[in-house]
Amino acid sequence: MMAVHACEGQFLHGLVLALRPKVIVEIGTGQGVSLRHLCDAAESIEYGPATCCRNGLTMPTVFARKSCQIWSCDVLQERIDYAHRFCPEVNFVCGDAAILFAQMGDQAGLVFIDGDHKYAAVASDFDLSLARLDKRGVIVLHDADTDYHPDVRDFCRTRGIMVLPTPMGMGVYVK
Ligand SMILES: C[S@@+](CC[C@H](N)C(=O)[O-])C[C@H]1O[C@@H](n2cnc3c(N)ncnc32)[C@H](O)[C@@H]1O
Repeated sequence: MMAVHACEGQFLHGLVLALRPKVIVEIGTGQGVSLRHLCDAAESIEYGPATCCRNGLTMPTVFARKSCQIWSCDVLQERIDYAHRFCPEVNFVCGDAAILFAQMGDQAGLVFIDGDHKYAAVASDFDLSLARLDKRGVIVLHDADTDYHPDVRDFCRTRGIMVLPTPMGMGVYVK
């Protein structure tokens, strides 16, 4: 199992700051390396002031700030248990993308795909993500230019998805 390299994590961090997504989805929690980058970035953006209800009146308040929601799934419960220790605020789902999206009500502003790297699985994760992606949302695919995972590279080529030259290649699709 390979986690994202430091510069790939920094890219994800920058993307979160630029997009300010209300909802982030990760497919493939692993040991939570990419997730920690996403959580760090999400922590530094705020969507405020939020509104609160007091005495029947809805009023703005600077105290109740709403932050970004993060969802992450993995087919292995042990991976989730491990990552949960570092990212307790994340909504973890044990299962694949189909199970995650069935539980998540919202649309996503950013999806990071790094789960099963076989062609059919990548295609399924991508298409499920696309169906739940916000207007101008972004899907990032890890391992898009490495001989370890030729299927991800083939998938990006077939769909015409731009691949950034990071250590493992990052496919970037903008809706
Ligand atoms: C390469 S690791 C993810 C690394 C992680 N992104 C990081 O940077 O730490 C891939 C993970 O995807 C999980 N996985 C495999 N098939 C999956 C699927 N169909 N849906 C979700 N996760 C899956 C594996 O159990 C593994 O933990």
